[in-house]
Amino acid sequence: MDDKKVGLSDTMKAKTEPKTFRRNPILGTKFTIAISSAKGGVGKSTFATNLALALKKLGLNVGLLDADIYGPSLPKLFSINEKPESDGQKLVPINKYGIQCMSIGFLTDEETPMIWRGPMVTSAIKTFTQKVLWKDLDFIIVDMPPGTGDTQLTFAQEINMDGVIIVSTPQEIALQDVKRGIRMFDKLKVNIIGLIDNMSHFIGDDGKKYAIFGEGGVKRTADEFHKKFLGEIPINSEIGKLGDLGTPIVESKPDHEISKIYLNFAEKIKSTYL
Ligand SMILES: Nc1ncnc2c1ncn2[C@@H]1O[C@H](COP(=O)(O)OP(=O)(O)OP(=O)(O)O)[C@@H](O)[C@H]1O
Ligand SMILES: [Mg+2]
Repeated sequence: MDDKKVGLSDTMKAKTEPKTFRRNPILGTKFTIAISSAKGGVGKSTFATNLALALKKLGLNVGLLDADIYGPSLPKLFSINEKPESDGQKLVPINKYGIQCMSIGFLTDEETPMIWRGPMVTSAIKTFTQKVLWKDLDFIIVDMPPGTGDTQLTFAQEINMDGVIIVSTPQEIALQDVKRGIRMFDKLKVNIIGLIDNMSHFIGDDGKKYAIFGEGGVKRTADEFHKKFLGEIPINSEIGKLGDLGTPIVESKPDHEISKIYLNFAEKIKSTYL
């Protein structure tokens, strides 16, 4: 099909054209780090929550913004059931595990499907960035919605991000989306901090390493696009179990080998920015 005829390439160009928009900084915070995955279900929210907790353990002031407006998971992952209060003008984040938290899921009930149209997405972002009383944060970790569609584009265009970490599993199908994600952030001139290989492998009871989703794909993709490879997080059933209980592994088992991996990532982020 002729792209020109249907105006497809022009539309795409207009949507991804950098520099023509003014990004909103998140008030009350020094650095904004987004966690993106391009593909859904690869462990982005798990990574975002544990990274936030690890940064907190390093003595930093940390906020966590669950920007996944279609599928918020912070209420579950941090076991938060209360609604944020307002000081008359702004929403006060909910403090849990020493972290300032905000999620659209605090304001709606779990069962309600979230139907957002373009202008509503923009207005949700304005609320998150300008109308939440984030206080003296060193870092805010933003759990982005999955995909590279309109919503993700709007977020990346509207929020001033200091860097984005891309989480992926080593599966080809996830990596395809990751490549799309890298191109999107590059076009938007958002700094990609690096790529994380989540669920990289499984260590069996026999002590052997099983590369269930294939091996080395995330690192190869990072190399192909000249991005940093930040490291691996193996499959570990404790991660999922503790996440489901609302007590993430870094909080409930800080000495666990997996928690040490998150702490190591946090140290890298801290030394990059502070
Ligand atoms: N390293 C890991 N080992 C074992 N389980 C994991 C690991 N990382 C994530 N999980 C599990 O994988 C599932 C998906 O994780 P999560 O919800 O964090 O993904 P997501 O990318 O945020 O998904 P969505 O796109 O739906 O927001 C969860 O059940 C989580 O507990
Ligand atoms: Mg998620």
